Amino acid sequence: MNPEELKQTYFKIRSSSVEHLKDLIHDLKWNKSDELNEKIRELEQELENLKNTKKYWLVWDSEKEHEQVVLDCQTKLPILKEEKTRKIINDNSWDSNLLIEWDNYHALQVLNYTHKEAIDVIYIDPPYNTWNKDFIYNDKYIDKEDTYRHSKWLNFMDKRLRLAHNLLKEDWVIFISIDDNEQAQLKLLCDEIFWEENFVAKIIWKKKQWWWNDSTHIVVEHEYIYIYSKVLSKLIFNLDSEHVLSDSLYPFKDEKWEYWLVTLDKTSIRFSQSLVYEIIDKNWNIYLPRIVKWRQSCWRWWKEKVKNEFDSLVFKDWKVYTKYYRPEWVTPKSLLYDTRFWRTETWKELLIEILWRNSFSYPKPLELLKHLLRISTRDNSLVADFMAWSWTTWHAVLDLNKEDWGNRKFILCTNNENNICEEITYERIKRVSNWYTNSKWKEIEWLWGNLRYYKTDFVEIESLKEITDKQKLELTYNAWELLAIKEWIYNELEKNDFWQIFENKTEIVAIYFKESTRKVQEMKERLKEIQTKKWWKVKWYIYNNPFDKTDFKDLKWLELKDIPDPILKVYREINRV
Ligand SMILES: C[S@@+](CC[C@H](N)C(=O)[O-])C[C@H]1O[C@@H](n2cnc3c(N)ncnc32)[C@H](O)[C@@H]1O
Repeated sequence: MNPEELKQTYFKIRSSSVEHLKDLIHDLKWNKSDELNEKIRELEQELENLKNTKKYWLVWDSEKEHEQVVLDCQTKLPILKEEKTRKIINDNSWDSNLLIEWDNYHALQVLNYTHKEAIDVIYIDPPYNTWNKDFIYNDKYIDKEDTYRHSKWLNFMDKRLRLAHNLLKEDWVIFISIDDNEQAQLKLLCDEIFWEENFVAKIIWKKKQWWWNDSTHIVVEHEYIYIYSKVLSKLIFNLDSEHVLSDSLYPFKDEKWEYWLVTLDKTSIRFSQSLVYEIIDKNWNIYLPRIVKWRQSCWRWWKEKVKNEFDSLVFKDWKVYTKYYRPEWVTPKSLLYDTRFWRTETWKELLIEILWRNSFSYPKPLELLKHLLRISTRDNSLVADFMAWSWTTWHAVLDLNKEDWGNRKFILCTNNENNICEEITYERIKRVSNWYTNSKWKEIEWLWGNLRYYKTDFVEIESLKEITDKQKLELTYNAWELLAIKEWIYNELEKNDFWQIFENKTEIVAIYFKESTRKVQEMKERLKEIQTKKWWKVKWYIYNNPFDKTDFKDLKWLELKDIPDPILKVYREINRV
């Protein structure tokens, strides 16, 4: 059995362990006696399978009451609708980032149509389930008295992380902030969803320095950030140029750089008699590898290397040393204790300065997010955060773009509890994307970045029977707009009863959406006409496409594209009636 089959079997057995056994027992009660033996055999087999599978896993109570958003997504078609008045255009790149307002389960469902395996880095900062009105599940705050609070949190995260997993490209990562309330549960959950072997690290982030002795037992000054890759062997992280190494580690300096000394002999390396030889310094002193705790050590370098690099050796206190220069870059570390990452008042104040009012006490430090994105992104990465609130992630992306002239893009989602999305997240992005005056009357330079604001919406399948043809066409346009989102090409050039065309500065997304292909030729002529004026590449989606590439030979720079199944499903449902 290959690992994937093994995993599927394991999940089948695991999920069947309680539910399936319950069903079987239920069946037994009602079945006639001649079927009883068969059922008992089934049960025995089931038990045997269970005995042979892993002996531990995370178990929690499944929902008694399903989340309304999940039920809605099952019975209606989740789509996104643009709030065109909230569009922010600051540069003329015609590129845009996305903000999706409302439940991230819904948003992730739609992103699974449009951005499957397209996202490079996900950062999320979920509710920590502190019982302090931080976690809303199914429209209700979870409080201390709720004995199902961990199960509810796990149900919430499980569904969303599974959807998020599909969005990640093979060689990329997810970062998840958490504290002690749920970190242990989260680790086991992620081991199941992302697989234990794709665990990269658990970062310990020192978030504050507590000056008072007012904690009962231990002052907790840190939180965690879990990192999982989609496929660990494909993951490449950047080196960290910002990490400050202690000066005391590099007490010496030569004309080249600061360094510390490491003895050339070591007991810790594998002993080899051929590495035991005499080294003679310029004053004719003879050195041999030391005997440390009655153990003969050997040199780390072969004789030849010592000869070639003799001038770099240091002879001191009857020992031979090599220089270890202070590196300019280090491999990212798991302990973040640097003061620039502390959750000081600075970050809260930054938000107050931008918004001119006190809004949210605990935004994540901007520098923390910048660090995570610095080590994990390239200059054109696509970053997503679906628990965004004050949008630190977005601010960090734009800051990094400004630093390295990058073109990272982002997709963010947050619910609108207490109007946060409209009043805080959107407001922050609007101000910081443009020149703005902060609360200290200082002019702050803009960070560029365009934005499109979407709200989640549904197509109600039942009510489709009653809608007019005009409304149906509107819904059809909505469904096809998802393709424009998928291609990041949003500007509507034209639309009619047969097609829609979107453009950016270099490309066109063309969508022919009618069952009948009688107007395809006409659309082709139209595209050719557009190409005579503008030298654009065409990405053409044709519903029910009976043609192949050769039928469009005379159209330049053409890419015929397949419509993703979920979008086809939405369209077919709308036009079924
Ligand atoms: C800890 S906060 C994130 C703070 C953010 N990192 C910052 O620096 O501002 C968690 C956020 O997740 C959002 N959230 C919780 N449940 C959600 C849901 N079902 N859909 C969308 N957003 C959700 C809440 O709005 C909440 O603000």
